[in-house]
Amino acid sequence: MIEPSQVQTRIDLLSDQLREHNYRYYILDDPLISDAEYDRLMRELQELETQFPALVRPDSPTMRVGSAPQAEFGTLEHRTPMLSLANAMNIEELREFDQRVRKILAVETVEYVAEPKLDGLGVELIYENGVFLAGATRGDGITGENITANLKTIQGLPLRLRDSEKPVPKLLEVRGEVFLRHADFQKLNANRESQNESLFANPRNAAAGSLRQLDSRITAQRPLQINLYAAGRIEEYPFNSHWEFMQTLPKWGFPVNGQIRICHGIEEAIQYYNKMESARETLPYDIDGIVIKVNDLVAQEELGIRSRSPRWAIAGKFKARQETTVVVSIEASVGRTGAITPVANLKPVQLGGVVVARATLHNQDEINRKDVRVGDTVLIQRAGDVIPEVVKVILENRPDETIPYKIPEVCPVCGGTVMRLEDEAKHYCQNISCSAQVVGRIEHFASKNAMDIDGMGPKLIEQLVAKKLIHTVADLYYLSKDDLAGLERMAEKSAENILDAIQASRGRDLWRFIHALGIRNVGEHASKLLANHFHSFEALAQATTDSLVEIHEIGPIAAAAIVAFFSETHNHELLENLNAGGVKPETPPMTMVTDDRFLGKIFVFTGKLEQFTRESAQGMVETRGGKTAGSVSKRTDYVVAGPGAGSKLAKAESLGVKVLSEDAFLALLD
Ligand code: IVH
Repeated sequence: MIEPSQVQTRIDLLSDQLREHNYRYYILDDPLISDAEYDRLMRELQELETQFPALVRPDSPTMRVGSAPQAEFGTLEHRTPMLSLANAMNIEELREFDQRVRKILAVETVEYVAEPKLDGLGVELIYENGVFLAGATRGDGITGENITANLKTIQGLPLRLRDSEKPVPKLLEVRGEVFLRHADFQKLNANRESQNESLFANPRNAAAGSLRQLDSRITAQRPLQINLYAAGRIEEYPFNSHWEFMQTLPKWGFPVNGQIRICHGIEEAIQYYNKMESARETLPYDIDGIVIKVNDLVAQEELGIRSRSPRWAIAGKFKARQETTVVVSIEASVGRTGAITPVANLKPVQLGGVVVARATLHNQDEINRKDVRVGDTVLIQRAGDVIPEVVKVILENRPDETIPYKIPEVCPVCGGTVMRLEDEAKHYCQNISCSAQVVGRIEHFASKNAMDIDGMGPKLIEQLVAKKLIHTVADLYYLSKDDLAGLERMAEKSAENILDAIQASRGRDLWRFIHALGIRNVGEHASKLLANHFHSFEALAQATTDSLVEIHEIGPIAAAAIVAFFSETHNHELLENLNAGGVKPETPPMTMVTDDRFLGKIFVFTGKLEQFTRESAQGMVETRGGKTAGSVSKRTDYVVAGPGAGSKLAKAESLGVKVLSEDAFLALLD
């Protein structure tokens, strides 16, 4: 048994190491260890903290996974009000600001600090004796919401400060902006779209939505960034200038923006303004202007505050990246999965430096909500960049005799049926042979967890489709050696290998064949359930929604998708061609050896498994009547963890779920 005092020493050491690595990663951008090594240290600390909960400290590096939801946010009063900034809408107004400042200070030129104006959410962080104590939103400037639990989940936010040549003040309040990078915003929205959740309009809304979650475990999953740029109350303020303050923040462990500059006089600040307005296009996050601050703190004091904003600072706003234009037509564009996205073709306009001629309308619900019609004048914007979108219709300009837009009932590419299944945001072309979808479908069909046709990768498939050698997955089974030999970089031997691989796939297991067809909402797991239940493809093809939903774990959405798939005539043809091409899926006899230790039990595999592949381990569980899942919850019975397991393992431990090593799992199988 390890002594409590030794545990404390180990916890302290691990915490120090993790903090140091965090600092190197987030502040210096110069990590010393791999992510896997970092995860290992983190896991060891988490394990010790689970065993010795009394030793967990509020500033532990493990405190970033979020905690149980709150009923509501408390409030937190700002010790000094959080002011806002006066705006300059153009360069002239920046010069007027400078004139006012010079007049009050009675000087010839003023030294300024120029910074990007980050487009996120202002927050205040409070540190006592160098430890993060609490944090709040700006609120009305006097009182904000206490969002401490959420702020703690932000990876770049230091939970404990580092001493530098300037000691950390006993009480330190710092202010900054929480925001999302474009790439993270796009990932988040793509993910939400696939889950049929409503989309965030822009990175700022997404950051705000994430920060105002009552359940901080959700916040923890959003890759929020923070940059600090101002002081609140600080005991024995040790600085003479804002620049000095900004130079010290990173030394204490705070992330600050990398584009902050000293400007001697307003003309240099104006150059900065112009430079940043162009740089705006290439920055990985949104800024909506710059902020110019008088550098000298005595001068700031002298200038003071006017109503709710300081006289020593101003925001130089950029021109909005919104524009109005006219919708010339609306087209339904078909993606690889058959998803149909309505796109507005616009009268081209300049928007933030690029010509915009198209804007996404997302899906039918979004079109209905905004009521976008051909002929409408619309306000468009670039939200989190890349694809512009329609903000709203200018109804005053609507011409007579416009009609509401409806996504067509037949696919504009192939003429197949277009359907929107219940609970889906998008419409889909149901025709598996639709050429817009062909390459993606064939790729999926041939992939490892489907028909497993070795060598049939995207490059080859694209060539075959482009040469019109294949149009559907069935055509794979009619390819000749001559067809293949005629392709770029295809030696005779490789052509033979590919034909062998195609041949081998003719007799794959039924579940692989079902999975390979790419029926919406029917993944690998559902395919196995269906194969086990029906035992023949013909029986599956005859199934009704009612009979399908009776199968354990097959829900109404998957059931409807299966029935829709088999009622599409193009698919009948395809299945006949596959059959005539010699594809005869095998139905192995039921291998279910129900085993009480497995029956109905839910397993989650995590980490790098060394003794078996994840697929084979899942198979072993399923054939014994157990189930596998991708994430850990209260319902999980076992987590099997290999080396490098991270958050899932931590979650299992925090929920008290039994954790097995690979050896222990193999022992259970015996
Ligand atoms: S300084 C008294 N610096 O803009 C000055 N603010 O309109 C306090 N903001 O609420 C703010 N980037 O959320 C400052 N580099 C920056 C900023 C910045 C963004 C936000 C902040 C503030 C708002 C004022």
